[in-house]
Amino acid sequence: NYYAILMAGGVGSRFWPSSKASNPKQFIDILGVGESLFQMTFKRLSRLIPTENILVLTNKNYVDRIKEQVPLIRDEQIVPEPEMRNTAPSILLGALKIRKMNTDARIVVAPCDHWIQQEDEFLDVLETAFESLKNEDRLLTLGVEPDSPNTGYGYIEFDKWDTGNIKKVKKFTEKPDLEKAERFLEAGNYVWNAGIFIWSADFIVQNFKQHLPEMYAIFEKGFDSLNTEKEDDFLKENYAKSDNISIDYGIMEKARDVYVIPVSFGWNDLGTWTSVQKELSKDENGNTVINSRLEAEDAENNIISIFSGKIVALKGLSDYIIVEDENVLMIVPKSDEQEIKKLRERVMKKYGND
Ligand code: GDD
Ligand code: MG
Repeated sequence: NYYAILMAGGVGSRFWPSSKASNPKQFIDILGVGESLFQMTFKRLSRLIPTENILVLTNKNYVDRIKEQVPLIRDEQIVPEPEMRNTAPSILLGALKIRKMNTDARIVVAPCDHWIQQEDEFLDVLETAFESLKNEDRLLTLGVEPDSPNTGYGYIEFDKWDTGNIKKVKKFTEKPDLEKAERFLEAGNYVWNAGIFIWSADFIVQNFKQHLPEMYAIFEKGFDSLNTEKEDDFLKENYAKSDNISIDYGIMEKARDVYVIPVSFGWNDLGTWTSVQKELSKDENGNTVINSRLEAEDAENNIISIFSGKIVALKGLSDYIIVEDENVLMIVPKSDEQEIKKLRERVMKKYGND
């Protein structure tokens, strides 16, 4: 009864120019290890979940990329979204499809842009989570101990005195402002939402019905078409009517019955170039070089990724991100990496979409 919904439809724009709409970060070998994050995620989950029970939710433009990267995935396991509407509608759609196949299904929802260090430990946690759903309806999240007031994550508050390994969540706050994030970090009873959710198909559908009734109503009309040859037409006509909202804002912040399992299997959401550098080796000057060779003098702590493999010669430049792709060479100080998104938008406005 174990199923997975793999979320593979985002663009990953803070990884520009390597990641772009035509080739987002989950499909590129961003770590330079010979495999994309999507391939790594699929492999990891298939150690616990029968491969035919893994649904891949993605944008219609990425279907071929997925088939290319993991040929054993069958067509009916890939769900192409006609428009980007963020994670809530894709998760509802995935859960409805799975519930129709198996009313007792339990599902893990997993993003595919993450790095997990201890896979065995991760799979143990997943099994514990699945098991705990046997007797209880709940929305389970995995929580990572925070080490900075990062405003790009969801923050989960739990009861200080709860000593169990599955803790009742008091409040879920998606992407707080810096002031709040600092307060949460200080308090000690907050963890980051890892973005991995475990729940029964039926219970998450009930939660959509309650908290996002309009979205639920759109999909309810197409219920008969799901998992049949009529599904495509239904989605083409109706998917874009759904609100553009993430599961975090749409469900997690509102729902009761939310629980968290604090985890420590080594988690990195690989959201930015500096977070990638944490998982890669550095030379004696702290420079990380992906797909290239470097000759450097008086140059430290840079991240360099060169699509063409060209040799890089550097003098007197430190703490920079230097990324070359087919069409773009980007050079940005690390301290400004949250600005990369905006930089990409400016370039697209002037020179066309990527
Ligand atoms: N199928 C599909 N369709 N997938 C999508 C879409 C979509 O429209 N939009 C995003 N995704 C995928 C992304 O590719 C990624 O794998 C996952 O859904 C999460 O989306 P992100 O856009 O990366 O979310 P986030 O990083 O801002 O925030 C989420 O993850 C954090 C941890 O990494 C939230 O769940 C936070 O609470 C959490 O802390
Ligand atoms: Mg993310």
